[in-house]
Amino acid sequence: MSHRLSILGPRGDSLSVVAAGDHGPPLILLHGFPLDHRLWQNQMDYFSQRFRVIAPELRGFGQSTLDEPPYRIQDLADDIERIRCHLASNQSIVLCGLSMGGYVAFEYWRLYGAQLKGLVLTNTKPDADDDLARQARLAMAERAIQAGAWSAVEGMLPKLLSEHALQHLPEVVAWTQAMMKAVPAQTVAAAQYAMANRRDFRTLLSEIHVPTLVVTGDRDPIAPPQATQQWSEQIAHSQFVAIPDCGHLCPLEAPQEFNRVLRGFLTQLE
Ligand code: MLT
Repeated sequence: MSHRLSILGPRGDSLSVVAAGDHGPPLILLHGFPLDHRLWQNQMDYFSQRFRVIAPELRGFGQSTLDEPPYRIQDLADDIERIRCHLASNQSIVLCGLSMGGYVAFEYWRLYGAQLKGLVLTNTKPDADDDLARQARLAMAERAIQAGAWSAVEGMLPKLLSEHALQHLPEVVAWTQAMMKAVPAQTVAAAQYAMANRRDFRTLLSEIHVPTLVVTGDRDPIAPPQATQQWSEQIAHSQFVAIPDCGHLCPLEAPQEFNRVLRGFLTQLE
């Protein structure tokens, strides 16, 4: 059973967290854009038997507030540390971030690496945006403000889910759309600005010494398998897995395979 709690953020904002499992080591799951904690529904059920599973909602997503945009990705890493101090003080964590959540996980490693027992980087990348990607983000932010959030994000669906999921997994499609439709325009804009200005971690990969699992889907157009395997090899203690027939949302599209891979990694850490 999961429960929701709210933690006071640095400027009086509210950081909403959904947690499941009342014992075991902490496992923190960070969702991607434009999603919320529901991305992890299958992992919350599965891992809460043996872990304290903690799924924060990033600023403006789900029930977290967005009080003073703009923010930087490193501010979100500070939020995660605040949540760790409240819910898992004196304990090291396994931090798992998907896509935008992965960008936050990289920043968390840079700022608070000593708190990490393990790192899971799923469907994500260490690169900063190039000029073209930055322009596309600014255009999406503008569109969200002018025409509404859904108009800005609806075109992302075929990039988030594989053709297989779009054709054969109606529940996954409905669940993804429900999350996408819940995101307010200001949240879309603020997240796009933050991602457009994120740090480039490619030159820092060799400095990551925490055990790291890197996962992607072999149909993920945002974090393609070949490029993902290449950068993962620069992390000393890393394992790489590409999940077959899967797009950008591996935990939702292929929960059994994702959970099997993550469980294997967590077992090794123990
Ligand atoms: C995500 O899934 O979080 C986004 O696709 C990340 C991005 O836009 O770079």
